Amino acid sequence: MASPRGWVCWHDWSFRPDTNRALWDEWAEIHARSDWYNLDAVRRGECKLRPYEIDEVGDVGGKTLLHLQCQIGTDTICWARRGADVTGVDFSARAVAIATDLARELAVDARFVCADVLRLPDVLEAEFDVVYTSRGVLGWLPDLDRWATVVAHFLAPGGVFYLTDVHPVAKVFVNQDRPDRPRRAVTQVSVAAQHGRGRDGHCCRRSADRVPS
Ligand SMILES: C[S@@+](CC[C@H](N)C(=O)[O-])C[C@H]1O[C@@H](n2cnc3c(N)ncnc32)[C@H](O)[C@@H]1O
Repeated sequence: MASPRGWVCWHDWSFRPDTNRALWDEWAEIHARSDWYNLDAVRRGECKLRPYEIDEVGDVGGKTLLHLQCQIGTDTICWARRGADVTGVDFSARAVAIATDLARELAVDARFVCADVLRLPDVLEAEFDVVYTSRGVLGWLPDLDRWATVVAHFLAPGGVFYLTDVHPVAKVFVNQDRPDRPRRAVTQVSVAAQHGRGRDGHCCRRSADRVPS
């Protein structure tokens, strides 16, 4: 909220999903033209997934995969090319339209749903072998308990939930394991959890914290 002098009072800020959505509609257009997302590389068949996540998620051939906060669908399409039966979800209508058009253009079989991830059970009925979400996701969500309930809702028994995130969430872990290197920042964190394993029904391992060398 702007003060009389025009600066922003963060402690008066409250979550506004419509503002976030409008922002992402704009950014989806910008990202679709950007070198970072490089849609032409995806068109040429390049895989945008990181080697570590391909390794940690494992073989997705013939599996159903739900990609939460998929944005313009580049990673979703890459999972489909690896044999997964994919459903991407994002609350930006522009992002979902770009993802849908791209998959159609590339003849990749992918389904995209425009929905708030926290309300997804209201509009999608299914179970998935893999629930996947990556890079730049948690920081946008106002209620992580509810988000975790949504993840659990869609995960099939024995299925795998995979999260890998970057800033700002990764910064929570700065220095956690490296007190000797105070200026180094953790740039990525990943969590893989398998439904139906472990003491309380879930097993969870933090499988990768990446610190730049
Ligand atoms: C940083 S992007 C994710 C980028 C993605 N990993 C990729 O490589 O394309 C974050 C995405 O989260 C989406 N998002 C934010 N809040 C959401 C919500 N409540 N429900 C669904 N999508 C949401 C935004 O529309 C945006 O597309």
